Amino acid sequence: MYLGLDLGTSGVKALLMDAGQKIIGSGHGSLDVSRPHHGWSEQDPADWIRATEEAVGALKASYPGELATVRGIGLSGQMHGATLLDAGGEVLRPCILWNDTRSFVEAARLDADPRFRKITGNIVFPGFTAPKLAWVKANEPAVFARVAKVLLPKDYLRLWLTGEHVSEMSDAAGTSWLDVGGRRWSTELLAATDLDEAHMPHLVEGTERTGDLRADLASNWGMSGGVTVAGGAGDNAASACGMGTVKPGAAFVSLGTSGVLFAANGAYLPNPESAVHTFCHALPQAWHQMGVILSATDSLNWLSGITGRDAAELTRELGGELRAPSGVTFLPYLSGERTPHNDAAIRGSFTGLAHAVDRAGLTQAVLEGVAFAFRDSLEALAKAGTTLTRVTAIGGGSRSRYWLKSIATALGLPVDIPADGDFGAAFGAARLGLIAAEGADPLEVCTPPATAETIEPAAALAGAYDEAYQHYRKLYPAIRGTM
Ligand code: XUL
Repeated sequence: MYLGLDLGTSGVKALLMDAGQKIIGSGHGSLDVSRPHHGWSEQDPADWIRATEEAVGALKASYPGELATVRGIGLSGQMHGATLLDAGGEVLRPCILWNDTRSFVEAARLDADPRFRKITGNIVFPGFTAPKLAWVKANEPAVFARVAKVLLPKDYLRLWLTGEHVSEMSDAAGTSWLDVGGRRWSTELLAATDLDEAHMPHLVEGTERTGDLRADLASNWGMSGGVTVAGGAGDNAASACGMGTVKPGAAFVSLGTSGVLFAANGAYLPNPESAVHTFCHALPQAWHQMGVILSATDSLNWLSGITGRDAAELTRELGGELRAPSGVTFLPYLSGERTPHNDAAIRGSFTGLAHAVDRAGLTQAVLEGVAFAFRDSLEALAKAGTTLTRVTAIGGGSRSRYWLKSIATALGLPVDIPADGDFGAAFGAARLGLIAAEGADPLEVCTPPATAETIEPAAALAGAYDEAYQHYRKLYPAIRGTM
């Protein structure tokens, strides 16, 4: 058996998988986010341990025999968080999470230093780790002076599991301290934030062994000794391992709260100017790019909130046939946008409203607006040298056929729907646990699921969609700076 542990923002998921990659079961432990000030988002690392014990405890209650035979553990986690430890290993302050925006001034300052984009291949976003340390230095100098180690959330969990300070390339790529092409810490960038390599964990690939599970934990969970803990991955790369999005050209579109267009690459292909994220993949000598849009299903949920109709009812009102764009345009920037604008201040808008526009007309525009935001990401990836021929859809929003048809038509690409199953980050982490424990070939383990159905672009509407997309593109420059 193999165990995948995914440390998310709202909870920890523990997933048990057998040697044939069949999912045996999963357990869950909840987490809260503390928001003590505007823009702040923090968690106490002790809660991650409590939630992990809850999640694994739930598995132990249901599958004690299976849990006892675990040979490998893989970790996945929310990226970018800054967990600060002193020389004795004590946590110095609550972890500053990926969606905390307090360090936007420090991020802009570091981003203006050309070495950051050149070495990391990415914009320094306020959510990334390095600007958080710059904020701590400026605002909590006594804490900064005591920082001996900086760990990402899942790597703190690893420290508890194994006693080792280790990270891996995919998560480290989101710190703004990694030389992403060279897959090593950049002493130059660490020095730019008054840190050095001694503050950083040792780096491995996601498929490599990082240590053994501590004997007392193994015994609590009923496992025998010698349980390997793999490097694992940041949550998006872990999901990609679960979805089999590992070979160059493979891609998925994730319709969650936020939206991600993720492409696997066989080479390092940065394009920071379009706000594409270029990170190491969890597999050796592999990279990936992703366009991140901040409000995907969140846009439809917003409309659902103000109309008092749930999302499924709103999309049902559109009927089964894809409609031609109506002239109403929605910009889905409800909480700013990452790709392609890197604009935290921009907000959403409707344009083209007329007396005749009804609720269904607004729903149609919201779904199209998100589809066009994905087209923006597709164009941003294309500028970075990645041409996609098809994408697989995942996430809650992919239950709407209408939305998938709209996305397929906006992207001009077939959209595959995977056969039912749980191919998320915890499953990807379990696969990495298997690879590290058995020395298995990553490409043989991380295969894609069967396709249940393919949604083709609506050829008859291709021209109308293209025209509507060109119109959509013109709106952002027109409203930028007005918020
Ligand atoms: C990736 C990102 C999120 C977090 C939280 O850049 O910010 O996907 O990893 O899940």
